[in-house]
Amino acid sequence: MSPDGMNFDQAAASWDQEPRRVRLAQEVAQAIAQAVPLSPAMDVLDFGCGTGLLSLNLQPQVGRVTGADTSSGMLQALEAKVAAQGLGNVATLLLDGQGQAALPGPYDLIVSNMTLHHVEDVPGLLTRLAAALKPGGWLALADLDPDEGQFHPDPTGVFHNGFERAWLGRQMRAVGLEGIQERTAASMRKPARDGAPRDFSIFLLTGQRGAPRGA
Ligand SMILES: C[S@@+](CC[C@H](N)C(=O)[O-])C[C@H]1O[C@@H](n2cnc3c(N)ncnc32)[C@H](O)[C@@H]1O
Repeated sequence: MSPDGMNFDQAAASWDQEPRRVRLAQEVAQAIAQAVPLSPAMDVLDFGCGTGLLSLNLQPQVGRVTGADTSSGMLQALEAKVAAQGLGNVATLLLDGQGQAALPGPYDLIVSNMTLHHVEDVPGLLTRLAAALKPGGWLALADLDPDEGQFHPDPTGVFHNGFERAWLGRQMRAVGLEGIQERTAASMRKPARDGAPRDFSIFLLTGQRGAPRGA
């Protein structure tokens, strides 16, 4: 059971069977490739990687990807795919129960897709993510635009009903990230909590850790 009440361990086995999730990860990876100059020299962290849908889309374009998650079941699903595909540049990292310990690194790029709304203390998380970046390193966050609580059929473990891009951009600036840019990465059509089909939009916000003074 994940600490936020959602059973991501149990969801892991069938996570990739939902085509809209697979498509979303592809679209977010494309948006990241447009916003960030990806290179084979890059060491990348995927925070809240789940089964690694985003990690594995990025993996051919960068040097190494570490998928980090609080759910051991999700990481086992990713490890099975890595073994089946014989990938040598993808690792996993089990985060502590609250996902609040300092992160290793430093990384050239930290990405995250659809995890932020499951994290209660977003400014605290951004502080830890920024600290785990190299000077000049990139942060790329994809999540829901405000959804009025309609995206999740069960709100257990959901701390934010999407995010205002301007608010999140200000939080990124507050932890020392510069050149904040936003774009719409994807749209996902699915039944809303009220039962009606709805298009949910997903943003990508990017920024770079400022170089230390005198560098
Ligand atoms: C909606 S899933 C998204 C998974 C993946 N990024 C994707 O696009 O398919 C959210 C993931 O965040 C993880 N998670 C939830 N709370 C977390 C936290 N506090 N720290 C790190 N990961 C967390 C869950 O275990 C789950 O794998």
